Amino acid sequence: MPLHGEFIPPGDKSISHRLVLISLLAEGEMIVNGLAEGDDVKTSLRIFQSLGGEARGGGNQMTLKGLDGKLRIDILKPVDLDCGNSGTTARLLAGAVAALPGFYIFDGDELLRRRPMERLVEPLRQMGACIETTSGNLPVTIIGGNSLHGIEFINQEGSAQLKGAVTLATLNATSPSYIIEPVPTRDHTEKIVNICGGQVLIHGSTLKVYPGQLTLPAEIYVPGDPSSAAFFLTGAALITDSIVTAKNMLLSGARIGFLRVLDRMGASVSISLEQEKPEPCGKVTVAYNGQLIATEVTSEEVPSLIDEVPILALAAALAKGTTIFRNMRELRFKEIDRLTGICYQLGALGVQVKIESDDLFVTGPTKLISPEILDSGHDHRLAMTLLMARFITGSNTPVRGEESISISYPSFKEELIRLNV
Ligand code: S3P
Repeated sequence: MPLHGEFIPPGDKSISHRLVLISLLAEGEMIVNGLAEGDDVKTSLRIFQSLGGEARGGGNQMTLKGLDGKLRIDILKPVDLDCGNSGTTARLLAGAVAALPGFYIFDGDELLRRRPMERLVEPLRQMGACIETTSGNLPVTIIGGNSLHGIEFINQEGSAQLKGAVTLATLNATSPSYIIEPVPTRDHTEKIVNICGGQVLIHGSTLKVYPGQLTLPAEIYVPGDPSSAAFFLTGAALITDSIVTAKNMLLSGARIGFLRVLDRMGASVSISLEQEKPEPCGKVTVAYNGQLIATEVTSEEVPSLIDEVPILALAAALAKGTTIFRNMRELRFKEIDRLTGICYQLGALGVQVKIESDDLFVTGPTKLISPEILDSGHDHRLAMTLLMARFITGSNTPVRGEESISISYPSFKEELIRLNV
């Protein structure tokens, strides 16, 4: 059952969130082509509309009318911001509204309520924001409208969401912020701010973000999401006789660490850059090239493949030797503790796997077994990894929580069937 053919991954989730949330702060109207249609981005869109933003159209083309920071809310009443399952919404939105008058209450679903928010609150508070967590988690309250000032922020966790929150808060501050990145993380916030006429200067690993007014561009295209494409591209590297091409895929270096790892493991990976700006994008073909071999994923690589670790761990399970994923601590703070989730579920598939401090060791090659049930813990990326594992074993093992795939890739199962010809 090889995977064969071309597919267009859904619009990039990270870029889509930012286009919607930056529209809260920018003036003008923008046509967005290819906005992600998963539940997470729908959450950002719903909140944008609840704050007075206008969104017209749908499907592949949507028009967003910016609010220029003038939210249509009653500033004397609490504004409930239900961020659902979306950590990106919660964190970027907190930065966006921190300086805007209003009393905001951020909340989310059971999984989001477990994720750490203190790391977000700290830099915003340092900027002068009035913000509180509930014992380090959601609900988070912000009494917006304080005069904020720029800060020096070292992005120690390597989190693009925190960088994005500080960047957006600085747009309405009275002085610039300096953001220092020990390891580069996805740069979509700063790129979009600059496209909107803002000023983020980049010198090596330091960003200087200036306060300023934003204006939406007339039209923008969202490239395909590498984090979604990764499932089929990796699947092709694992299944004999497969060859799969992702078209119109985002090729930002900060996002395609998984392709570098697959290449190192011996898969046949070819990348053709078709467009350089505003985001590099093009075609990626991965073909089966024999059994993969183990590799070491370094700490420095983590931000460039953070969302692809589950599917790469499955690749490691089928590769020869022990693959080591170094410093996977950040995976503990995803939709679930993804590090433990990967370990238990690969274990259930018969894989020799262990965690030592925050390093993950996966030894292969494994002849995958089919347990009675697999459990994604409602984590969309783990769910798609388990569906791919089930596909490889050719079994019908139920995957508990598989409906969570609608968070990022609603058509994943149909695409899998279509590519299996
Ligand atoms: C994202 C950044 C990453 C990633 C998440 C999306 C973003 O999280 O895991 O899926 O859009 O900024 P962190 O920034 O917390 O590492």
